[in-house]
Amino acid sequence: MADGTIKIDGRSVPFKKGETVIHAAYKAGIEIPHYCWHPGLSAPANCRMCLVEIEPPPGRPKMMLDVLSWDAAKNDYVPTKKTKLIPACQQACADGMSVLSDTSQEVADARQAVQELLLLNHPVDCPICDQAGECSLQDYWLEHDRTPKRMHGEPVHKPKAEVFGETIVYDGERCIMCTRCIRVMKEVAHDPVLDMRQRGNRNEIVLAPGRELDNNYSLMTEHVCPVGALTSSHFRFKARVWFLRSGRSVCQGCATGCNAWLDFDPRDNTPYRYRPRDNEAVNGHWMCDQGMLSYPDAHEGRLVGALVGGEDSVLVDAIAQAKKQLKGHAADPKRIAIVLSAEHSCEDNFALAYVAKVYLRAADLFVAKKPDGAADGILMVADKNPNGAGVTQIAARLGLAAPRSTAALVEAAAAGKYDYVVSLGSQVDGDAEKLKSELAGVKGFVAIAAHDGPLAQAAHIALPAAAWCETAGTYVNAKGLAQSVDKVLAPRGDAHPGWQLVVSLARALGYDLGWKRRADVAAAMSGPVEGAEAGHGETAMAAAAAEVQP
Ligand code: SF4
Ligand code: SF4
Ligand code: FES
Repeated sequence: MADGTIKIDGRSVPFKKGETVIHAAYKAGIEIPHYCWHPGLSAPANCRMCLVEIEPPPGRPKMMLDVLSWDAAKNDYVPTKKTKLIPACQQACADGMSVLSDTSQEVADARQAVQELLLLNHPVDCPICDQAGECSLQDYWLEHDRTPKRMHGEPVHKPKAEVFGETIVYDGERCIMCTRCIRVMKEVAHDPVLDMRQRGNRNEIVLAPGRELDNNYSLMTEHVCPVGALTSSHFRFKARVWFLRSGRSVCQGCATGCNAWLDFDPRDNTPYRYRPRDNEAVNGHWMCDQGMLSYPDAHEGRLVGALVGGEDSVLVDAIAQAKKQLKGHAADPKRIAIVLSAEHSCEDNFALAYVAKVYLRAADLFVAKKPDGAADGILMVADKNPNGAGVTQIAARLGLAAPRSTAALVEAAAAGKYDYVVSLGSQVDGDAEKLKSELAGVKGFVAIAAHDGPLAQAAHIALPAAAWCETAGTYVNAKGLAQSVDKVLAPRGDAHPGWQLVVSLARALGYDLGWKRRADVAAAMSGPVEGAEAGHGETAMAAAAAEVQP
């Protein structure tokens, strides 16, 4: 609910009490050019790129400034007056306020002057700059300046390619001193490791004495830098951004489920970086370094082909072998163990849990997951799995007992409780070697896994599943929020969506689910299941799943 309305170039824009003009414009999709302002940080108003004209209320005079302007006829400066412009990032909205942004000549002149000033000492080395193609200096020069450089003297030189830490390299000559990097460290990472030294055109960004840029959010400095002054050592010189496309994803690094763009080159199906995707309900504008650097999981350590007895196989043969190995499963459902995965989507887990419930009548559910790790009280939580909550919801939805840990599976297997195991996922949080040895003796063990982890290695037959970015899916984060991801990359090798492999395996065992598209799984997730009661979170999970493109 808005607290009032302002007009920007005649267009009505709602605002909330306390909001600045630039923030209200940003929310309404109107761009007021800016460098130092960022929606997630404080506003120092030091770049002056966002200057706008505020029209006075009726009956009040315009605020004017006394200035000197060049009079070519007199060949001298003469006193004159000009409209006082206001930084939109500092000006609070007031009901009925009228703002001129793109319709004021004074504003246009000011933007051009600021742009020219910022480029006076800039090296303009765009052809070798990683920011080229997504640089505010380039974009605003085209939009608001377009004049050739008038200063032909030697520019001020500053540190080049200075290593700030393992992830970040600084180029002082490209820096426009917006201080976003300083503020993101102070206000988001709560680690004021960066500061500015010197004044005027000599100033530069420096590290605190004796420090490196080494906190969990170091890559956010590169993310907020509007120019190419801070570059990521991981992305530096790897790709030109105009060749990249972006897919909607969710970080798999922990149960926070930060929203992300996965940038990839469609020409070689390769991911190049993650960027935070704004979501106030989850990650605001940020991601941690661990998450930012987890995009190579799309291709590293993958299981891209089927394995039978540890040897390469083709998928159809592996499924035929699985049918043979599991042929006695119907004799006693109590001797079947089903392992869900906190790493896989709700769709994959639902398919396996559904087959367990409806066809196999297996009630012993376990959950495979990555071991807990560090939490930082900012975004990162100890649970390093993207969908633990989804697995719990699915079991409840199907009226199954809450899945137990893989350590419990190992214990039960050691007591000879199971003949058959069907698992989803790659990692386990217990003793992987013990799991391999205790499960080696079962009659049939089929694993569906995206990565070559302990489960795929322990199984007699491993089927290659698509990674999170190779198929659309739904994940429920630690707060119980169901979030969907799109298929961004083509699946590698023989990988198929996990739910499809479950359907194929079930068909081989004589159970036809009739699910052909992801939408069929989504429909099953929201529909009635024989013998199941509606569980906690069912609606959000199913609704999110139904939203995703097939
Ligand atoms: S390094 Fe980038 S973010 Fe930091 S002050 Fe310079 S331009 Fe701004
Ligand atoms: S906090 Fe968790 S979900 Fe967010 S970026 Fe980091 S690892 Fe990924
Ligand atoms: S955005 Fe820099 S002064 Fe307003």
